[in-house]
Amino acid sequence: MTATKLNLADWHDAARAQLSEAAYAYYASGANDEITLRENRLAFDTIALRYRVLRDVAVRDISTNILGARVSMPVVVAPTAFHQLADPDGEVATARAAEAAQTILTLSSLSNRAVETVVASTAAPVWFQLYVYRDRTITEAMLDRVEAAGCQAIVFTVDAPLLGRRERDLRQAFSWPTEFQVENLLPLDHPEAATAGTGADLATYFSTLLDPAIRWRDLEWLCARSSIPVLVKGIVHPDDARLAIEHGAQGVVVSNHGGRQLDTAVATIRALPDVAHVLARLDTSSGAPPTLLLDGGVRRGTDVVKALAYGADGVMIGRPVLWGLAAEGEAGARAVLELMRNEVDLALGLCGCRSVAEVSDDLLVPPPR
Ligand SMILES: Cc1cc2nc3c(=O)[nH]c(=O)nc-3n(C[C@H](O)[C@H](O)[C@H](O)COP(=O)(O)O)c2cc1C
Repeated sequence: MTATKLNLADWHDAARAQLSEAAYAYYASGANDEITLRENRLAFDTIALRYRVLRDVAVRDISTNILGARVSMPVVVAPTAFHQLADPDGEVATARAAEAAQTILTLSSLSNRAVETVVASTAAPVWFQLYVYRDRTITEAMLDRVEAAGCQAIVFTVDAPLLGRRERDLRQAFSWPTEFQVENLLPLDHPEAATAGTGADLATYFSTLLDPAIRWRDLEWLCARSSIPVLVKGIVHPDDARLAIEHGAQGVVVSNHGGRQLDTAVATIRALPDVAHVLARLDTSSGAPPTLLLDGGVRRGTDVVKALAYGADGVMIGRPVLWGLAAEGEAGARAVLELMRNEVDLALGLCGCRSVAEVSDDLLVPPPR
């Protein structure tokens, strides 16, 4: 009999029991000493909630709009690579779980299943996480595919001009299984896709694709080239958040890549208040405030409430979805998302809020600024 899983830590344990050591290390690890990986989580615990009472929370609705999409909760799926390490259906299983949970799936550039297949398999809104490669024709071809497939936004990841070094992962000598396809990496009809898109060669090949010379004007190029909104993921500095919007992005994701890139980078919930402060004061062409999301270490409904109270429109979760998928496939990923929805609903209600709109920074101790 499987043990009852009451929280995301239980799902983590269940996944660990299913995965090979190498696959577990690939999913779980952070860069170097894993200080940022730990701090992302621990920083939430240093913030207290000054809840309100006697506010009639009998009827609550935690659904919200994120970048024009209606979602059942302010929690969406972060882009993570290689879902076939967890489940043979890979990102198709995750996409179906997102549909059942009525939220958004962000598909990684390094997904095992092609963007066209994933979008066709689900009614969930799909965003596509994009890197801008050295060879802009690869990026352009990818953009065309993503738009034609029906993705609703681009999530441009900017915290990986170079790949961080995950020592826990290196010790396991994780190599990408040879039967793996990474179908988005090159256009499907590209002759190199067949060979470079599989197995151990892929890791080396991918690092040669990344462009360490990437800069702000490349974001401007991407926003001009894209017919769908662009969010910039990997921001922790308020000046970078402002620059992202000034260069055409419709929003930012405060993220440090789940502690996988620069170790000792600031915990995201600590970076959020300054970013929110700057974005709230920007004049945007549409007049609408930029979209603001956060990820990294979100494991409890109360973490979500804290991010909302600091001014985020919602959060992304990365590893927990992988844990659900590894433990029980599509049903597990769905259960993880539903667990989060229930926790957010309970935390909001106990704070005296009936909706996301009722959350304010007045709930936070210490206050944001
Ligand atoms: C196994 C794994 C693979 C990831 N792959 C990507 C990726 O391909 N692109 C990307 O932008 N972020 C990637 N990320 C970072 C996530 O999008 C996200 O920022 C992070 O997982 C959030 O932290 P959490 O796992 O603590 O929720 C990955 C994270 C993990 C754990």
